[in-house]
Amino acid sequence: MSFDFKDLLAIKDLSKKNLQTILYSTQCCKQILMSGEKTPILVDKNVAILFYEPSTRTKNSFEIAAKRLSANVINISVNTSSVVKGESITDTVKTLEAMRIDYIIIRHSSAGIANMLAKNFKVSIINAGDGFHEHPTQGLLDLYTIYEYKKKIKDLKVLIVGDILHSRVAKSNIWALKTMGAEVFVSGPPTFIPANIEELGVTVFHNLDDIIDKVDVVNILRIQSERQKENLLPSLREYISLYQLNKKRLLNLKSEAIIMHPGPINRGIEIDSEVADSSKSVINKQVTNGIAVRMSILSLLNRDK
Ligand code: CP
Repeated sequence: MSFDFKDLLAIKDLSKKNLQTILYSTQCCKQILMSGEKTPILVDKNVAILFYEPSTRTKNSFEIAAKRLSANVINISVNTSSVVKGESITDTVKTLEAMRIDYIIIRHSSAGIANMLAKNFKVSIINAGDGFHEHPTQGLLDLYTIYEYKKKIKDLKVLIVGDILHSRVAKSNIWALKTMGAEVFVSGPPTFIPANIEELGVTVFHNLDDIIDKVDVVNILRIQSERQKENLLPSLREYISLYQLNKKRLLNLKSEAIIMHPGPINRGIEIDSEVADSSKSVINKQVTNGIAVRMSILSLLNRDK
C-alpha cells in the first residue's frame, strides 16, 4: 500500500499513488460508514480534536470518523482550555502527548503550524486547515466525491470559482486534481486570484461565462472575509452579478455537470439558494464523504514513523 506517513499536512506532499491509495481506502471506509457498523481499527487509540477556528463539518466528521474506528475521542474547546490563560500551542501539544494522545487533529489560523508541530512531536498531526495554506481532508473529500460521480479524475475539466487567494480549500483541490491528471480552471475577480497561479498548472478565466458551459465540475467557494486583511471586494453587488452561480448560469452547465461547495454556504452570495439545492448539487454528498475520507486517513497514518 502506497502510504507511509506519520502526519497528514498537505496534499502537495502526496504522490499520485498516495492519492490512489486514499481513494481506494475511502471506498472501503464508505462501505463501513453506510453499513452503520463500527470497526476496531483504532481500538485503544486516543484522538484529540484541537480547533482554534470555528468549524461544523470538519470537526464533527472527524469525531464521527474516529468513533466509527473505535478510537477514544477528546474534543478540546479552546475557549475553555488553558489557551485562554496564555498557554502556547507547543505546550498544549506537549501536554496532550503526555496524556498519551496518538493523533491530534488541528485547525489554526497560522499557515504552517501543523508542519511545525509534526516536526517537533511524535504524535500524529492531521491538518484540518491552517490559515490560507491547505485543508487536505477537504481536498481529499472533494476528490473522492468527483471520483464517485465521474468514475475517473484524469482529463476531467474542473472549475473553481471565487476567492482563490484566501482559500486553503482551493489550494488543496488544485494539488489533488492536477496530480491526478484533471484540467483545472479558476475564475474570480483579479483581486481574488493569486499572482503566478498559472505556475500550478491552472488556467484563469476572469469572465466566468466564458468557461462555465465547458466543465464537468464546478466548485464554488465562499468569500473568506475572516482571512482578508484589506477589503479586496469594492462591490458585493458586482461580485454577485459576475460570479454567483445563479439560475441562469445553472442552465448553461453541461447536462452531466456537478456542483460542489465545501461549505459553509452563503446563500444568495456565491451561490443562489435554489441552485445549492438543485439536482446537480452534490454538497450534502460531500459532507457524508467527509466522514469516509477522514476514517481512511486515520486508518492509513503510520504511527511507527
Ligand atoms: N468545509 C469546511 O471546512 O467546513 P467547516 O469550517 O464547517 O469545517
